[in-house]
Amino acid sequence: MRKNKDELRPEKVDGIELLDNPLPTWWVALFNFSMIFGLGYFGWFHILNKPGLKEDLVQDRKTHEQLMAAREQVALSPDDIVARLQEPKLIQEGKGLYAAHCSPCHGQQGEGTVGPNLTDKFWIHGGTPEMVLASVSDGIPAMGMVAWGPIIGQQKVEAVTAFVLSLQGTNPPNGKAPQGDEY
Ligand code: HEC
Repeated sequence: MRKNKDELRPEKVDGIELLDNPLPTWWVALFNFSMIFGLGYFGWFHILNKPGLKEDLVQDRKTHEQLMAAREQVALSPDDIVARLQEPKLIQEGKGLYAAHCSPCHGQQGEGTVGPNLTDKFWIHGGTPEMVLASVSDGIPAMGMVAWGPIIGQQKVEAVTAFVLSLQGTNPPNGKAPQGDEY
């Protein structure tokens, strides 16, 4: 700080006299802040190569697309779902899933052991394709029937449900007695 606040500089520029005051503190502070911020910015994005707005955007778009795809699946009308659950390819895929995940409780042929018989017309939690799909996807946790949706995913739930529905009326030996209501 100069002693005299409004002291003039000794020289003139094109006849213009100049004061010799220091820059205002707020201006210097802003300047220093910008310098430090700039260095940080440069280090973060150009040396450490941290993800920036562009990567954020790409990620956001990906999430959005996944969401839309998921929503499209949910938006299948009941008729579409019923038709889909009859696709032979899906049933075939479900067969392996059933053997791996379901047969311990529902029997190798769906005849029922711990869990109910899945081959008869009687259902505890509803026997329309959508209802069976919901039983498999959401489970009946209180009764020891796992919610399979979060475990094997929607697509596999549909496959294994398609297989279960294909067992209707197969009448395997040692079938467990019917439980629930007739559909
Ligand atoms: C740990 C044993 C267990 C496993 C494994 C299991 N379930 Fe179940 N499941 C049950 C039980 C117990 C019930 C009956 C719940 C009740 O009485 O309310 C049931 C009920 C169901 C129902 C509803 C039946 C009805 O009458 O409404 C369906 C459908 C079903 N299971 C399908 C499956 C499929 C498909 C799998 C394999 C992905 C599977 N379950 C795996 C034990 C199991």
